[in-house]
Amino acid sequence: MTTNIPNEALKRTHTCGQLRASDDAQTVTLCGWVQSYRDHGGVVFIDLRDRDGITQVVFDPDAGEQQHSLARHLRDEWVISITGVVRSRGEDRANDKLGTGEIEVFSKNLIVLNRSEPVPFQLDEHHTTGEENRLKYRYIDMRRPAMNNALRMRHAITKAMRDVLDARGFVDVETPMLCKSTPEGARDFLVPSRMSRDGFYALPQSPQLFKQILMVGGIDRYYQIARCFRDEDLRADRQPEFTQLDIEMSFATEQDVMDTTDEVLRKVTAACDIDYPETVAVMTYEEAMRRFGSDRPDLRFGMELCDISDLVADSEFGVFSGAVKNGGTVQCIVVPGGADMTRKETDGLADWSKGFGAKGLAVTKVAESGDAFETGIAKFINPLAASLIERTGAKPGDLLAFGADVMRVVRRVLGELRCKLARERDMIDPAAFEWLWVTEFPMFEHDDEAGRHVALHHPFTAPFAEDWDAYQAEPTKMRSRAYDIICNGLELGGGSIRIHTPEMQKAVFNFLSISDEEAEEKFAFLLDALKYGAPPHAGLALGLDRVVMVMLNLPSIRDVIAFPKTQKGSCPMTAAPGIVDEEQLTELSLQMIPEEGSKTAPADKAEEADPLAGML
Ligand code: AMO
Ligand code: AMP
Repeated sequence: MTTNIPNEALKRTHTCGQLRASDDAQTVTLCGWVQSYRDHGGVVFIDLRDRDGITQVVFDPDAGEQQHSLARHLRDEWVISITGVVRSRGEDRANDKLGTGEIEVFSKNLIVLNRSEPVPFQLDEHHTTGEENRLKYRYIDMRRPAMNNALRMRHAITKAMRDVLDARGFVDVETPMLCKSTPEGARDFLVPSRMSRDGFYALPQSPQLFKQILMVGGIDRYYQIARCFRDEDLRADRQPEFTQLDIEMSFATEQDVMDTTDEVLRKVTAACDIDYPETVAVMTYEEAMRRFGSDRPDLRFGMELCDISDLVADSEFGVFSGAVKNGGTVQCIVVPGGADMTRKETDGLADWSKGFGAKGLAVTKVAESGDAFETGIAKFINPLAASLIERTGAKPGDLLAFGADVMRVVRRVLGELRCKLARERDMIDPAAFEWLWVTEFPMFEHDDEAGRHVALHHPFTAPFAEDWDAYQAEPTKMRSRAYDIICNGLELGGGSIRIHTPEMQKAVFNFLSISDEEAEEKFAFLLDALKYGAPPHAGLALGLDRVVMVMLNLPSIRDVIAFPKTQKGSCPMTAAPGIVDEEQLTELSLQMIPEEGSKTAPADKAEEADPLAGML
């Protein structure tokens, strides 16, 4: 073990993935980690790894007794430097599993740069290692080629984004992290401050208002790889702290923003060796909901929703006729070859559907004859078989799954069902990328619980002028000038044409039950800025983590974030969030209140928490 490392030991001539037969007889210096160790009766072989690959290194006793006996002490994940001579292995001994398999390096000088204790898990054991443990020892997990590759691809993707936007005259501007809390979207993370004891900062949910104000400031074209913070329930595609490619443009139409985004995504996909379509299909929200029951339809498979309300309105099957009479709808999807599903499986689907608010999920199968149904609700609907089979195009051996309820529930259940069945029945081509722009979202949604309207995108989105005039009394009918970019059923990004006059902004706030006074109090800076010559402007934000996840075909955004949080928002490596000193709290005029029903102090509770409970 050398504490005084000679400088030459660190002067790498090559990476561990570079050497080929053409480098035969060269003297090289490599540095890296011991991936594996084999002592073949005298000669010691190790696989030396760095981020670029693996090279086989040989320690022969004839090349020096001292380095050979040192080599015999090497263990997994020790960090070493070797200087030696490249030898071509010859074709018959080449290892085609390794990029460097044509050669090995005969070490002449071994320097141990650092030892490693036995690692908590082997790099090739990540499938069987709990994610909590992988996140706790993220620096070891990161040495895995797949993880290392994900971070390097993320870099390549952000670089492609920056290159396109730079070439198009966009200026990278940073916006504050310590902001004012504004009542839009998700819950804020609040930051107390010693200097302002009567107020809190909020971490930005996105740079939305700052980027709009940059447009008022004449920046014209802005972008930022921006950190966003949202205190919301986490899922595989959501983190409390995530990254957006945030874009805003002055004097721009929807088409300008969509073209810019397409160009960004064309370069991003090219960096990942994936094709991007010449033109991306555009679908209105209305059509997406009608055909796929979702505003982010996955177009990699069919099973579109089929409305059969008119056909079953007078059916003797009360579930169907009742739904239509009550102003609801009856729709179905056709599952190709779904007749192979067992009663147990279809009953399971009916139970699953209840999680989405459905009362049940009726099914039947098309008989071999092709003109009648069998099993499930066949006996109720066989009188309508001819018209149902014609409408749905169902074939012998297909399964029909029906939803009967109000429109919202039926679309939700069948929209989710088509995705679930496509996944479970292997109907998705893993190499397919189906891109789609969804446009013309509703401007407002009615939140029945809160008893008020909420903005579907955000309150700064412009409505279509004609809808604004036509639907003052029916705001849920107004369409907004918002657009989302979808890939494989995942929302990768969204944006809109913005409101750029204070009058319209105040009017929209009023629809959202934000009074003029409240608007002045919370958004005075925006309303002020809009008064002083705000140009028409528009923009969009891509979820960078999601883009990388989709490009690399990974199941979770945690796989493309260096230090992600668990589902409970904690970091197993640093143990954040952590308890702070009483003194720090006093300085901030804060006090911890123990959770109701809990006798333990917060510090003890944190120690007791089950670390696995937070995993997705
Ligand atoms: P929006 O809220 O739709 O729009 O966010 C834009 C994109 O960010 C990604 N995203 C997330 N990714 C990971 N974890 C999360 N919790 C998370 N939340 C959102 C998604 C989403 O499409 N300011 C507007 C954009 C604009 O109007 O320009 C905004 O933030 O991929
Ligand atoms: P029931 O008459 O409640 O026994 O239901 C008969 C069949 O219709 C069962 O397969 C239920 O799962 C299904 N079903 C019940 N309610 C609905 C509904 N609202 N939509 C679709 N299927 C339903």
